Amino acid sequence: MSELNTIYLKDYTAPSFLIEKTTLTFEIFPEYTLVRSHILFSQNPLRTDLPTQLDLFGVDLEIVSLSIDSIELSDKHYTWVDEVLCIKNVPTNFLFEAVTKIYPDKNTSLEGLYLSNGMYCTQCEAEGFRKITFYPDRPDVMSEFETRIEADLNDYPTLLSNGNLLDSGELENNRHFAVWQDPFKKPCYLFALVAGDLDVKEDVFTTVEGKKVELKIFVESHNMHKTEFAMQSLIRSMKWDEERFGRVYDLDLFMIVAVDHFNMGAMENKGLNIFNSALVLADEATTTDAGFERIESVIGHEYFHNWSGNRVTCRDWFQLSLKEGFTVFRDSEFTADLHDRAVKRIDDVKLLKTMQFAEDAGPMAHPIRPSSYVEINNFYTLTVYEKGAEVVRMLHTLLGETTFRKGSDLYFDRFDGQAVTTEDFVVCMQEVSGLNLDQFQRWYNQAGTPIVEVFEHFDQASGKYTLKFKQSCPPSINQPEKLAFHIPIKMALMNKADQTHLDLTAIDEFDMDTQVYHLTQDEQMITFENLTSKPVASLLRDFSAPVKLVFDRPKVEFAYLLANDDNSFNQFEAGQSLMQSHLLEQYSILAKGGEYQMDSDLIDAMQSVLAHDELSDAKKAAILTLPNFSYLSDQIDQVDVDVLLNLLKQCKTQIAKALEQQWLDNFNALNDSVEYAFVASQVGKRSFKALCLSYLSYLGQYSGLITSLYESASNMTDRSLALNLIANSNNKNQKQAINAGFYEKWKQDTQMVEQWLSIQSRGESTSIADIKALMQHESFDIKTPNKVRSVIGSFAMGNPLHFHAKDGSGYEFLADQILVLNELNPQIASRLCAALTHFKRYDENRKLKMIDQLHRIDQCKSLSKDVKEIVTRSLQ
Ligand code: PHE
Ligand code: ZN
Repeated sequence: MSELNTIYLKDYTAPSFLIEKTTLTFEIFPEYTLVRSHILFSQNPLRTDLPTQLDLFGVDLEIVSLSIDSIELSDKHYTWVDEVLCIKNVPTNFLFEAVTKIYPDKNTSLEGLYLSNGMYCTQCEAEGFRKITFYPDRPDVMSEFETRIEADLNDYPTLLSNGNLLDSGELENNRHFAVWQDPFKKPCYLFALVAGDLDVKEDVFTTVEGKKVELKIFVESHNMHKTEFAMQSLIRSMKWDEERFGRVYDLDLFMIVAVDHFNMGAMENKGLNIFNSALVLADEATTTDAGFERIESVIGHEYFHNWSGNRVTCRDWFQLSLKEGFTVFRDSEFTADLHDRAVKRIDDVKLLKTMQFAEDAGPMAHPIRPSSYVEINNFYTLTVYEKGAEVVRMLHTLLGETTFRKGSDLYFDRFDGQAVTTEDFVVCMQEVSGLNLDQFQRWYNQAGTPIVEVFEHFDQASGKYTLKFKQSCPPSINQPEKLAFHIPIKMALMNKADQTHLDLTAIDEFDMDTQVYHLTQDEQMITFENLTSKPVASLLRDFSAPVKLVFDRPKVEFAYLLANDDNSFNQFEAGQSLMQSHLLEQYSILAKGGEYQMDSDLIDAMQSVLAHDELSDAKKAAILTLPNFSYLSDQIDQVDVDVLLNLLKQCKTQIAKALEQQWLDNFNALNDSVEYAFVASQVGKRSFKALCLSYLSYLGQYSGLITSLYESASNMTDRSLALNLIANSNNKNQKQAINAGFYEKWKQDTQMVEQWLSIQSRGESTSIADIKALMQHESFDIKTPNKVRSVIGSFAMGNPLHFHAKDGSGYEFLADQILVLNELNPQIASRLCAALTHFKRYDENRKLKMIDQLHRIDQCKSLSKDVKEIVTRSLQ
């Protein structure tokens, strides 16, 4: 990556200067915003080399004046090259002041200070603060902030920043001001400011310590009716964090602001979280079950960051998983505790296996703590977040809940107010448990998904049963060889004869308390003695490690586990294994021109799941869902997209036919008219109902059932299910009429329009021409990330049939959009590249066409470093 400036973890040095206090004034005018900073610097005592050069970051700023100790600097006194303002020969303690002009209305990158629907808001993580003013924009420089905002009283009656309101009042010319002070030291990426005309939903939370915290959710007034769920979610989050992690909120006020233009999901700014409105606003009419769950978990996630991220923050951006992996683990436990633990685990693992495993196998593979990057925004990945959470989960599995909690208490206590590293976290876990976690640290430094192969042997004569484990990890870019991981394998041996568990006490590497076997060597073996019959091993229970388990065992054992495993996750996994082996078998037959044939054993197994009376509706739905296109294409070398899509269609049609009556009976039984509530039992029912109808939709004669569900739907879950199925159908006229009707009815509701766009873009019968037409629709706007994700993102990630069109038109279309977005919003452009970078997965024709488009993007002269990094890595 020659022209690109790569940053390395090994080059980390402590900051030269620390900050005592930062005082900011924002004067907001229609054409520009004037930012005055007043920063007290002092030499970092840890720097024994006594540095005298001050380096500050600044991007897209217009300098009005700069001074040190009130002496104005002229351009002889500093250089400003490549984002860095460098001032030589500064004293040990001094006051730095800057006045800069910025232009929020021109800011389409949505980093720094920008406008969203006429409201000013900020996004500073990771390196957006440098677009606001000159600053040591790095997370290990922490400061108290005091922020004064001045703006027009009519247009911007609401003025917000972090912490507590110190002062406010009116000014001349119909302007007003507010002064906010945040007593907690924080890095500038947690700074936030909002100025707008907003309504507020209010509530109060009383902490265990008896302190009253004001809760405020700010939204545009037409959205007030969609704030109740977020407020209740916030209250649940605050309570849960006290109970489960002993974490109590620290300020007197906690605010959330909803904005329509946002690059990500939400942001944990101290005391002032800013949310993508799609992840706050909810009500029954417009939000699906999945939507409610997601909103609740993101509200939790951002709130939990107050401790895991804000009070204890990251030393540098290589440590991103320190806050993100841990916080995703926390939000995932929150959801599991509140709803259905087994279903949550299944959902999380599905995401990991379909999306993160692909990332780990592709050109962007990186460890959860990368050792280098060009653009940090490219590392807000499934690996850092989801795999990062799995690594924390493994620690939890190894230590058990009680000891893990001691470790997390120690971590928060020891590092409160500091910027630390992932080692600091692991060392706390090591100290409280006495476990040696040196080898475990490799999870932080090695990329790729480990493979664990299992071989079993049972000797009837001697009654000995042996399990042999062999681990390996394929090479990734810059990491040709990997060392053995410390892999917790939660397991049980089931006795087929009397359906009991066998006692596993005898083995050294097995921990009785946690039921975990420690796999630490490349190869490791265990033998069980005195067995009268061959046991059935249930391995990697709850998916105790993010690995690929390869265990070539008789199908009847999967069927046995599907029926009997008392570990919910493994029961699900056994069903998936049966389906997967059937699909992969048939894939090779179809690929050679053969004909598809359904396996009657698979139908029998599915039938017994349907008839199983101990399984909840939610579990049935999860188990009976086939592995998806994206997951399967990862299992096949150079997958032929047409063959795989055709296979999935035939298989689903056969399943629909073979069990038609059951799908129909279940659908009818589940399709009752109880009043909608977002509670686990109802959610489970609806997901099972959705699965039944989805299978039936393959049979053609059920379109009446689908339209009548659409028409009678009293909630968005049902409505969106029907709309999804209609989007797949080939009945153009009907589809158009329904879509037009939907839009007319809901066009005032941004979240509904986003869902409507996304459902159409994923529809099997939606061609590239249709996508282009959607982009011409009045509701589409390329400057709004949610709209881009709804149309272009959904098409590239969720419409394999048309995205992978043989003639390459889907790839060309995507590249066109990436090039347009590159100029407007590099972060969004770069995220869309992912769909092209996995070319190695596909057949030769498609692969070459994807590479062509990557080259075409690469030739663009004004490529942002976000896009450049991804494209360069993919092509190297
Ligand atoms: N830190 C945010 C979160 O995960 C994500 C985010 C990153 C938001 C960068 C905006 C910009 O909670
Ligand atoms: Zn986060």
